[in-house]
Amino acid sequence: MTARGDGEARLRAAWLRDEISRHNYHYYVLDDPLIPDSEYDRLLRELQALEAEHPKLITPDSPTQRVGASPLDGFDEIQHRVPMLSLENAFSDEEMEGFDQRVRERLESEQEIVYAAEPKMDGLAISLRYEKGVLVQAATRGDGTRGEAVTQNVRTIPSVPLRLLADGWPEILEVRGEIYMPLSGFERINQQARKRGEKGFANPRNAAAGSLRQLDPRITAQRPLAMFCYGVGELSGGDLAPSYHESVRQLSRWGLRVSPELRIVNGVAGCLDYYRRLAERREHLDYDIDGVVFKVDSLAQQRVLGFVSRAPRWAVARKFPAQEEITRLLEIDVQVGRTGALTPVARLKPVTVAGVTVTNATLHNAEEIQRKDIRIGDWVIVRRAGDVIPQVVRVIPDRRPPDTRIFQMPDSCPVCGSEVIQDADGVVLRCSGGLYCPAQRREAIKHFASRRAMDIEGLGDKLVEQLVKRQLVSSPADLYQLDQETLAGLERMGEKSTHNLIQALQRSKSTTLARFLFALGIREVGEATAQALATHFGTLKAIHQAGIEALQEVSDVGPVVAEHLVTFFRQPHNQEVLEKLLEAGVHWPAVAMPAVDRQPLKGKSFVLTGTLSQPRSQIKEALQSLGAKVTGSVSKKTDYVVAGVDAGSKLEKAERLGLEILDEPGLERLLGGDERKNVGHKNRARPTWLGDDESTQA
Ligand code: IVH
Repeated sequence: MTARGDGEARLRAAWLRDEISRHNYHYYVLDDPLIPDSEYDRLLRELQALEAEHPKLITPDSPTQRVGASPLDGFDEIQHRVPMLSLENAFSDEEMEGFDQRVRERLESEQEIVYAAEPKMDGLAISLRYEKGVLVQAATRGDGTRGEAVTQNVRTIPSVPLRLLADGWPEILEVRGEIYMPLSGFERINQQARKRGEKGFANPRNAAAGSLRQLDPRITAQRPLAMFCYGVGELSGGDLAPSYHESVRQLSRWGLRVSPELRIVNGVAGCLDYYRRLAERREHLDYDIDGVVFKVDSLAQQRVLGFVSRAPRWAVARKFPAQEEITRLLEIDVQVGRTGALTPVARLKPVTVAGVTVTNATLHNAEEIQRKDIRIGDWVIVRRAGDVIPQVVRVIPDRRPPDTRIFQMPDSCPVCGSEVIQDADGVVLRCSGGLYCPAQRREAIKHFASRRAMDIEGLGDKLVEQLVKRQLVSSPADLYQLDQETLAGLERMGEKSTHNLIQALQRSKSTTLARFLFALGIREVGEATAQALATHFGTLKAIHQAGIEALQEVSDVGPVVAEHLVTFFRQPHNQEVLEKLLEAGVHWPAVAMPAVDRQPLKGKSFVLTGTLSQPRSQIKEALQSLGAKVTGSVSKKTDYVVAGVDAGSKLEKAERLGLEILDEPGLERLLGGDERKNVGHKNRARPTWLGDDESTQA
């Protein structure tokens, strides 16, 4: 960096600070970035360099100061000039009605009350003090009157503005809100902690609290914390808008982050409706909430209502039912998954958690059981979050009965008796039985049929279990041999569901190479890897023939995955299943290949019309993969019109314009010679994935 004059540097630093703060606001508060990250980093680096050169220019509100100041010996205690209150709770619709009635009576209102509704964040209440627009203090709630100054730590949180934006803010403004850890960030830091051999946090709330109470702000700076603001404490030298929702809008304009879920609702009916809707969406939010907060929207009405002891009369928290319960762990069973991994599962004394009866909870692996010191017979805390499998949070040691038993993983597979082998990572134990093991077979078939794999609608888990148990199906290929009669003989299979399933099986035969590869359930080959393999190699045969080296040319594939692929294709049993699947008519269109020299139809434009024997999307994909463009309307620029049965006006127009018209056999001929197409596969006598006619792969 060239040396600058002091004045010039000062101006540049001020400009950079404003610019970076503006981008922070768009990125973290509005969630709508204006510039790419690289550009932002460049601005930040320039400011850092400038401040390093001229330390005098560093201001407490400089965005560079978020990285974390030096560690503290302890937190200073501070006094809240306006106490930080708690909320009255409501646990039922009736209690909500009671609250609304009390509000109306106090306000002597005949009319419906207008409420502001927003999520009750499950984090930590924090007060931010801005003087002349600059953040001077951040404090925890503490006992409501005295809290702790955690200013240095809060300064590291990107969604907390170090200086307020725009104008019109009061000279002293104390903003209150909740600091929390997004669920995605929580998962990430816990995973990292486990990798280091540490325990990790029990839940996002503890993680947020632990992060905020770090004496070393540099640690806090690395934790993914965020804040939603929902109120104002001390305020002087200015004023707020006359309603809660408008004042929240003001806060947002000043750069503070507020909940995007805030709504205005009318009367108690509006409150109950909001509560139900949010409860339904709860599990899709990237943060934990434990209820909804309703506030009388008019600040004038709030003043009339006032407070009772520690809580305002104008607000209530409608809490969600508990998500954690205590129950007895009766037994630990071991389940065998698709790849043979053994998973211990806790059988629980049935307990209702948030309205759902829970009887099982995953225990993940032996290491987890040992770490949490879980024994058979223990009293445990079970947690259920949304749709995910319930978890055993921890045991209650004080309640441990004298006769608990220590659990041990078996040395042989509990389903097929094969030897159990430990993975290289030392954590996962696996049954070595492969598809000999009925459990692995069953799971492999469930996976094959699943929505993102072959998408066989109507072939649910229960049905697969029956099919495997009765030995009607022992590999995915057997599914395509099922007939009406066999299926009709199964439990809960009426005529209609049998017919639908046969149709779904038929439909599933038209697939894509990526889906097919994913469906095979090769270890570590997830959807993304399957897609990458399909795009890179183009054909099943090419993947099968590729060695460890060639496989690793694919971006997603490392030595371990390559090894799994080679091992899979080497097994005679798997080769046989693949042959049978293709013989049954499973097929897919040619795969789009990036290389130009494999695009014989480059620059050619196609229109598809009429009813064709394969889904249009498949033919389109096949054509596109060879470089062709497929459009919806016929014009002079169209090179080919592919006309199926009952083609109408587009065909007429093509004839008028004298364009080249292809029927399906014509299309096949055009695509012919290149095996990568599977269009027209049905006419083939033999599956070709290993046959000679697949060898044209250039
Ligand atoms: S308003 C005087 N709004 O819930 C009213 N509180 O149980 C002050 N909380 O200490 C609170 N989300 O930490 C309000 N949207 C929200 C909230 C919220 C979470 C917390 C807050 C408060 C506690 C009371």
